[in-house]
Amino acid sequence: MEDQAAELRAMMQNRNQTTSAKTHGTRIIAITSGKGGVGKTNLAVNMAIAYAEAGKKVILIDGDLGMANVNVLLNVVPSQNLLHVITQHKSISDIILDTDYGIKFIAGANGFSRIANLSDTELDYFVKEFSQLSNADIIIIDTGAGITNNVMSFVAAADEVYVVTTPEPTAITDAYGIIKIIATELTNSNINMKLLVNRVHSAEEGKRISDRIINIAAQFLNYKIDYLGFIYEDAIVTSSVLRQKPFIVSAPQSKPAQCVRHIVGRIEKTDFEEEEGFSRFLRKLRKRK
Ligand SMILES: Nc1ncnc2c1ncn2[C@@H]1O[C@H](COP(=O)(O)OP(=O)(O)OP(=O)(O)O)[C@@H](O)[C@H]1O
Ligand SMILES: [Mg+2]
Repeated sequence: MEDQAAELRAMMQNRNQTTSAKTHGTRIIAITSGKGGVGKTNLAVNMAIAYAEAGKKVILIDGDLGMANVNVLLNVVPSQNLLHVITQHKSISDIILDTDYGIKFIAGANGFSRIANLSDTELDYFVKEFSQLSNADIIIIDTGAGITNNVMSFVAAADEVYVVTTPEPTAITDAYGIIKIIATELTNSNINMKLLVNRVHSAEEGKRISDRIINIAAQFLNYKIDYLGFIYEDAIVTSSVLRQKPFIVSAPQSKPAQCVRHIVGRIEKTDFEEEEGFSRFLRKLRKRK
């Protein structure tokens, strides 16, 4: 294991030297929630596009196993997915798709669940393949609701986890539930959790809900969570889904689009440990074995 880690570090250092234009690391963000249907996929897709509009190289990974629907929102049809890379039938460059919106997309499918059971050689292959993504500025992983083992590997390895809730009491309770699981199960991984409140009617509503969750997490889990922002409830979100065109593109001046751009601007202003972002991610993937 140590040898592999050393090998990986050497490999990543070489990569960084050869990709001379690159001056910073890859930021890896997982988007999750306790309750389903709170808007994760819409936020992941629109945030990814907002980043691309700001000139960043973005890769969006669909990590939702049951309902892989990033492709529906982006109106692309992936024929290959991460599972084909994990089973060594494909290279990551074969499965990565271009989209109309300046972001690249990888279908996760059942790939994630396999990571926990890979042999060292298989994991080696996967990590090497995955390291081809280190040219990206940002990787956003949209996960399914509620953390299962399937997505835990990626959540555990991400630099930041954004937990999405809505004002509904059930969504709030489940958001706290997922925060508790992440905070207690992943005690060693220094995960940086942030809260997004979707479908609010006012900024105050977003703040009030986030304060409640943040205070409970501080009191009962001794865990500090930051509030990242809110997104307005707006019919444009549903109509964009129906038209399969992300709202940040179809309605760039809409309230939700402005909120997403504001959130992306805030994220950009917060630091992350740039130096070894991507190699740390791969190392943590290995450790989850
Ligand atoms: N800000 C919003 N305003 C209005 N409707 C919204 C908003 N956000 C989400 N929705 C509605 O909620 C639906 C579900 O959103 P989305 O698919 O992004 O949720 P999800 O958390 O990814 O769901 P799942 O847990 O099934 O993956 C959207 O299709 C849309 O109709
Ligand atoms: Mg979803």
